[in-house]
Amino acid sequence: MIIIIDFGSQTAHLISRRIRELGQTVMVVEPEDAIERIKEQNPQGIIFSGGPASVYGKNSPTVDKQIFEMRIPILGICYGQQLIAHILDGKVSPGKIKEYGPAVVTIEKDSPLFENTAKEFNVWMSHGDEVKKAPGGFKIVAHTKTIPVAAISNEKKKIYAIQFHPEVIHTQFGQTLLGNFLKICGIEPKRQEIDSVFIEGLIDNIRQSLGNEKAICALSGGVDSSVAALLVHKAIGENLTCFYIDSGLMREGETDLLKEVFKENYDMRIEVIDAEDEFLDVLRGVIDPEKKRKKIGETFIRVFEKEAKKLGAKFLVQGTIYPDVIESQGSKHSEKIKSHHNVGGLPEDMEFTLVEPLRTFYKDEVRLIGQILGMPESITKRQPFPGPGLAVRIVGEVNKDNLKILRKADAIVREEIENFGFTNNLWQAFAVFTGIKTTGVRGDQRVYGETIAIRAIEAKDAMSADFAKLPWGLLQRISNRIVTEVPDVNRVVYDISTKPPATMEWE
Ligand code: XMP
Repeated sequence: MIIIIDFGSQTAHLISRRIRELGQTVMVVEPEDAIERIKEQNPQGIIFSGGPASVYGKNSPTVDKQIFEMRIPILGICYGQQLIAHILDGKVSPGKIKEYGPAVVTIEKDSPLFENTAKEFNVWMSHGDEVKKAPGGFKIVAHTKTIPVAAISNEKKKIYAIQFHPEVIHTQFGQTLLGNFLKICGIEPKRQEIDSVFIEGLIDNIRQSLGNEKAICALSGGVDSSVAALLVHKAIGENLTCFYIDSGLMREGETDLLKEVFKENYDMRIEVIDAEDEFLDVLRGVIDPEKKRKKIGETFIRVFEKEAKKLGAKFLVQGTIYPDVIESQGSKHSEKIKSHHNVGGLPEDMEFTLVEPLRTFYKDEVRLIGQILGMPESITKRQPFPGPGLAVRIVGEVNKDNLKILRKADAIVREEIENFGFTNNLWQAFAVFTGIKTTGVRGDQRVYGETIAIRAIEAKDAMSADFAKLPWGLLQRISNRIVTEVPDVNRVVYDISTKPPATMEWE
């Protein structure tokens, strides 16, 4: 087994998933417990994750120096590399240039960690500090244009460290590199798949935890809640009732489509609740994105509570997936990025016990589970849509007028991309109501209108992303249609940000 010490990384569990995919058992531990856990578990290798702190910060997470004398191979990633350098008397300081997103790493010296990779390849970075001097006994193995120390190693002691993130999909050879580390640990990497036997196990677990109790499910029609609902339905059948809450924050045509799909495809109990007025009421005057998320989360739960009381349900099924958990502060040392309404926004006095069967999975794994369960592609291939809906794509107050503008623009973006045949290459494509008014001219008259941003994203999981290089002709067509068909809009811009540092949604 491999132990991962979580220094608060957004991607600690992604590392764990990658190692699992190579056929190994993984345990993620907090730095405070690391030595004890290592002694107890006797792992074959240890990985130091990244993290948001600075090694020289006052309360920064760290580990006891004895870890380097335990004769277990170590791989440090990002903060992990900085910590190794710091503890072993190398030098770490704030970088002149902070790197977020893509970089090119150049391998300078042979190292078992970089076996079967290219001499130069693309990696994903996310750091402010950097290692300035390698500790004694270490050699510098790789650099990038901006940082001279992108990888270090002490082959005698089997301690390796890299500044970039091999676990995110945008790092080329990331999985090769993690496989190489396993080989250094004396393990032959193999692949472990999610299959029907694995899924039967999941369903069995749910059946045992719920017994004969009734459950309700927050069905949004998205991949996550649909797969979660189907798993629970397979486990407890009639005892599950699904509610679809129409919050008024849905995309154009969505509610109708979902009613149709779910009524036709599944033999599940589904009820549609119209709660638009309730949601818009609580959102009046709210501008702060975190407040919006919290208020929407609370309202969802209240509406459910009302319905659940009628049914006497004890359990609430939610399609929370792993990135939702981690981004709502999943581990002790990680920093909060956003409150996902289905996790961080839950009120504390909630009366349900939550059932979250997908809590440890990533999006592509959830799609695969859905596929194996025989769900139609209209669900499994559906682009993700955030729980708080269009509210997090409206900068500023959410109201009927803004929603109407965004809905129309969004429908155009999606329709044009679909017609162009580009949809399947994208994680998401949507419009954003930026809340910025600018001057324009229409029919010789000055206008002061809204700005819509187009966001189209390529990603494999929700942790990192690149903007899609949509053809100019397609962008032009979208822009023309929006300014013509949505008269309140006189400007359209294209969002060309990567994640990190930008998130996919604007709020
Ligand atoms: P961000 O904006 O955090 O988004 O980079 C990553 C992915 O998560 C989706 N997202 C959400 N999904 N509840 C959800 O179920 C939420 O509150 C939420 N916020 C963002 C987002 O659409 C993207 O695919």
